[in-house]
Amino acid sequence: MPIKYVPFVPEPIEGQAVLNFNRVLKYKGVDDTSMTLQRGMPLYEVEKLESVGDNTENNMVFRGECITTCAYLKEHNIQVDLVYIDPPFASGADYAKKIYLRRNPKVAEAIAQAEQEIDSEELRAFEEKMYGDVWNKEKYLNWMYENLLAIKSIMSETASIYVHLDWHIVHYMKVLMDEIFGEDNFRNDIIWHYSGWNKKLKVSFEKRHDTILYYCQDDEGTSFNSFFEQWESEEEYIKKRKQKPLTDENGRRYVLSDAGNGKRVKRYLDEAIKDGVVVDDVWDIDKINNSAKESLDYSTQKPEVLLERIIKASSNENMVVADFFGGSGVTAAVASKLNRRFITCDIGLNSIQTMRDRLSADGASFDVYEIKDGVQLYRNPVQTMDKIKSLIPGLKNEDALDSFWEGTITDTKNGTIPVYIPNLMDSTSKLLDKVTMQRIIHEAIPDLPPNTKKVIVYYVDITSEEEIKQFIDEDDSTIVEIELRDLKTILDDVVIEDYAEFSVAETSDDLINKYVVTINRFMSDRVTAKILEYNNKCSLNDKKKTFKPIQISNEGLEMIEYLSLDCESNEGEWHSSSEIKIDKNSFVILNGEKTKSFWDGSIKSEKKPLRLKIRNICGDETVWSIE
Ligand SMILES: C[S@@+](CC[C@H](N)C(=O)[O-])C[C@H]1O[C@@H](n2cnc3c(N)ncnc32)[C@H](O)[C@@H]1O
Repeated sequence: MPIKYVPFVPEPIEGQAVLNFNRVLKYKGVDDTSMTLQRGMPLYEVEKLESVGDNTENNMVFRGECITTCAYLKEHNIQVDLVYIDPPFASGADYAKKIYLRRNPKVAEAIAQAEQEIDSEELRAFEEKMYGDVWNKEKYLNWMYENLLAIKSIMSETASIYVHLDWHIVHYMKVLMDEIFGEDNFRNDIIWHYSGWNKKLKVSFEKRHDTILYYCQDDEGTSFNSFFEQWESEEEYIKKRKQKPLTDENGRRYVLSDAGNGKRVKRYLDEAIKDGVVVDDVWDIDKINNSAKESLDYSTQKPEVLLERIIKASSNENMVVADFFGGSGVTAAVASKLNRRFITCDIGLNSIQTMRDRLSADGASFDVYEIKDGVQLYRNPVQTMDKIKSLIPGLKNEDALDSFWEGTITDTKNGTIPVYIPNLMDSTSKLLDKVTMQRIIHEAIPDLPPNTKKVIVYYVDITSEEEIKQFIDEDDSTIVEIELRDLKTILDDVVIEDYAEFSVAETSDDLINKYVVTINRFMSDRVTAKILEYNNKCSLNDKKKTFKPIQISNEGLEMIEYLSLDCESNEGEWHSSSEIKIDKNSFVILNGEKTKSFWDGSIKSEKKPLRLKIRNICGDETVWSIE
């Protein structure tokens, strides 16, 4: 349950055209939209998980939703000067993270096998659902309306905002953003054009651009740093501008440019190289491919140069740059490199780990927080949903029921009991409030078969259990019994922590790093369950019978992705005194430095280690005290 609600401050812009869609916000009162706005953004408890570096700039990484992060910032009077967001696009895609088994340092045979696989680039990977973005337009716009109001409430008076979208929804979002930020504060729709494969399309042109809508809080007060792009050589200019140069009588090369008055003027390439070229609103920047140096294997990762332009144009050193859909952490990473402060958040565990490792490797200092909103129960909402369904005893799919109901449970007293589970992917249904209960009583229950005696309603978050129970008791329009159940109790019971056997020793081999922790065995039920699921799926689909199931060694060290030692404290927030990340090719990244060595099964530290943290390849982290 939220500690309290923090006002959005949704000042409507007078005289602004609005989209004619039904604005349903998740924290609304029974049927009155204005009550939603009165109620505000939910503020939850926040726990600091880790401190990286001295963090005098107060850089923050939150694991939590955009709206709950904004509530925290608002409550603490923290404002931001520039926002870039790249929210899930309503594109219907279902993003996946590839998970790679690492090389097992303990087993000679496995070493050979792993190296062979690496050579042949047939890395063993299995997919894990990260987050889905399957939405309908109405829901998406409602969700973005709420997020944008929350973001606006923590933007400084002269802040700018860039919203990264594509053809699926950008045209609707322009109208929505006009409503929130004001048409007069619209500055650009930046076209990010990228290259792709040539293929013949039958019905339309190839879609090869995204659109970034750029607004400011106050068109007169918000500054903008125009800048020129420098080209390395005339050849680069020609390639990027895709213009064939002409040569004058002195052998100087030029292109013809539009002077804006119907006339064409000569633009000499040597001058263009010297002066640079003004950056306009069409940006030709290639997408990141997997082999790019900056690639982190995060499926929607955007290129750093894109963010560099935005951050340089709309902020100055020491200003606060924020990204509330942080993904791979590109905004925070570029902001930090350009000496800006940063605030970022994401709901996905994989995202938080990717950005944490990226920023730490870049030498940035920051704190990592978790917002205790009861949603990040298990890695991310998609996986939590899958997990929840598998954990409710006796829950069966029931095609005959409306999709509002997740399935049914049968018992001898009540017969078939329909079960409602909030969809964690859909922000409008996560909170069990009077609105949802009203829907259940007046819309969902009347559609059930007439012999239904009872329904079960699960919740993750509830406005107030007493209030909802009273609401049910006072509503006498149904004789069906409604049982409320807390989903969190189910998950708390079943998450089995990973298990590690390790030894700690002092070594004289290394003069600096005197302590060595050696991992002898690692077991993870959570990873093993995923692998089993993957093996079963592949065997079923394997018509040619060539699939070789993945097998985990007795030592299990191939399931480890990251290790860290805390030598400062044996409780509270984590301080990583020494860390090893094993990349997908099994090469070690030691304290942020990439190496070409394989992991030897140990981790060293200068000071006596007090705690050991291990992250498995699916992203679950477990901490052990070192006696
Ligand atoms: C398109 S990706 C962002 C990619 C990022 N710009 C980058 O370059 O790496 C969208 C991100 O939004 C996150 N996300 C989805 N819903 C969210 C919410 N309500 N609050 C915060 N983050 C959310 C997803 O986990 C995902 O990482």
